[in-house]
Amino acid sequence: MSINWYPGHMHKAQKEIKQRLPEVDMFIEILDARLPYSSENPMLASIRGDKPCLKILNKTDLADPETTEVWQHFLEQAQHTKTLALNLHLANKTEQIFNLCHKLVPHKGDILKPITCLITGIPNVGKSTLINTLAGRTIAKTGNEPAVTQSQQRIDLGNNLILFDTPGLLWPKVENDNSGYRLAISGAIKDTAFNFDELAYYAAEYLLRFYPDNLIRRYSLEELPRDETTLLEIIGRQRGCLMNGGHVNLNKTSAIFINEFRDGTLGPISLETPDMMQKELRHVAQLLTEKAEKKAARLSAHKKGRKK
Ligand code: G4P
Repeated sequence: MSINWYPGHMHKAQKEIKQRLPEVDMFIEILDARLPYSSENPMLASIRGDKPCLKILNKTDLADPETTEVWQHFLEQAQHTKTLALNLHLANKTEQIFNLCHKLVPHKGDILKPITCLITGIPNVGKSTLINTLAGRTIAKTGNEPAVTQSQQRIDLGNNLILFDTPGLLWPKVENDNSGYRLAISGAIKDTAFNFDELAYYAAEYLLRFYPDNLIRRYSLEELPRDETTLLEIIGRQRGCLMNGGHVNLNKTSAIFINEFRDGTLGPISLETPDMMQKELRHVAQLLTEKAEKKAARLSAHKKGRKK
């Protein structure tokens, strides 16, 4: 599945981040704990350079706690990086976030020299919710449709911390297909940009492999279905998603299944691990090399043809 969802304001946001950079001491980057790699903006790391970064793994209530710990350990291996696992619906960890910011920028953070943080995150990771929590009042509009935060703002958080908000960001092209699927399944990509059936098949295959017990529990299965089609048919029949002739309406079933994943009804589930990502990145790198080699061979054949 190739997702190429790139509203103009996201491109604008990248330009705004670069302009703002000289006055920024550190970044607060919000990631979706279910997909910390895929919910990161790949351009951000290069824009950020060696500025300190607090990576917040949000929505931990929806993610597998063991995998979240593995991710925290993995992400903290990067220089000047700290992580915090967060469930914004449950705990207010404002104090902890403030303390981590002061630790990351120890030479600033008094009344004369407040710490300036730039908060970033792809749409729907919970950026607006976090800004409102940190500010202690409603500043940013929240909502389940991605891309609601559209303008940059400067917010004085007290505690000698200044926060700059940026609009939601998502990279222009997801080169790794798996990341595209995970983003769409999590709700980070607008529902109009993909086909629900395709997502449901991807999610069903993944859950049958990595989280079979969650499926058994949720759908009261006596045994694990042999494949994703059988699983979706069982769910469709259970939910009464039937068409003429008693066939299962796969489109309706798929939407139910994906929404049950999104709201946590299937239990806490992570969609990727550092190991998986590393394997996929190697695969993508190999595909890109092959593509470049084929292109070079075509060019050289073309040149030879012209010489003749
Ligand atoms: P954004 O600015 O990054 O686009 O995201 P926003 O804060 O609007 O949050 C997107 C959705 O994610 C909201 O749900 C919000 O409540 C939810 N959310 C934020 N943090 C968490 C969390 O830790 N756990 C879970 N499970 N959900 C979280 P919504 O239903 O669309 O909006 P609302 O009705 O809550 O306002």
